Amino acid sequence: MSAKIIDGVKHARQLRADLSAQISDFVAQTGHRPKLKVILVGSDPASRLYVSNKARACRDVGIESVTIELSSSVTLPELLEVIDAANEDSTVHGILVQLPLPPHLPVRAVLERISVDKDVDGFHMYNVGGLVVGSTVFSPCTPYGVQKLLEAEQIPIAGQNVVVVGASNIVGKPTALMLMQRDATVCICHAKTRDLAQFTILADILVVAAGRPGLILGPMVKTGAVVIDVGINRLPDGRIVGDVDFDAVRQRASHITPVPGGVGPMTITMLLHNTLVAARALTGKALSS
Ligand code: GUN
Repeated sequence: MSAKIIDGVKHARQLRADLSAQISDFVAQTGHRPKLKVILVGSDPASRLYVSNKARACRDVGIESVTIELSSSVTLPELLEVIDAANEDSTVHGILVQLPLPPHLPVRAVLERISVDKDVDGFHMYNVGGLVVGSTVFSPCTPYGVQKLLEAEQIPIAGQNVVVVGASNIVGKPTALMLMQRDATVCICHAKTRDLAQFTILADILVVAAGRPGLILGPMVKTGAVVIDVGINRLPDGRIVGDVDFDAVRQRASHITPVPGGVGPMTITMLLHNTLVAARALTGKALSS
């Protein structure tokens, strides 16, 4: 078997074309343009690249984006003040604080300060709670992108065995919750899991977000499984690879996402989607009050 390669670039392009049209309609109907405020603390090169990619994607679909760059020595009160100003600015619909933050800044206190109505990353505890009870407003962008890819490829979720490798708050845990909400049987593995292969071999859908190149080898995957690789790792020779041994796993899986070009383009697309959802809700609220 040689797996079908899931083309995240193609799916993202289609979704962005649709979003672009919806944003034009929104601007024509309301006179307001969706606006995202991105807060970048410090000068981590990977974070800088992610933030500039987000800004470009916003521009391409007609969302205004403003990036505020703060020194890595910014204090918590100073950062919270910037978030408060964005919360109060009625022209801002979405707020995103790029992670990771420097170690002296408490992540939860920062994320909890973002207005839940503008939490387009879906990281605020309120939106995380929404995932647990199945009625979240803003789903976190990477898990949402994974779900959209499965839907676009018409891969059934209900009743499937899903194994998620990686238990991060950004990817692993929310992915598990979202797919459980869609009636999958979900198992989460993590760094302390003993004998990872005994779990991964059971997966009809294997989602890997561990940040370890070569973690998932061919024999760890069931024949015909759908393999979604969320890992992004830079090798010493400069190549970008996922967490899955692509060439070996491709021989067993029915579908597989490449890295780059799989989940990555979907993550930013879902951020654009969430920003439009926020703009619609906030503009509707303002009109009715
Ligand atoms: N860092 C890595 N991924 C993300 C993300 O999805 N959102 C934010 N804010 N920071 C990140």
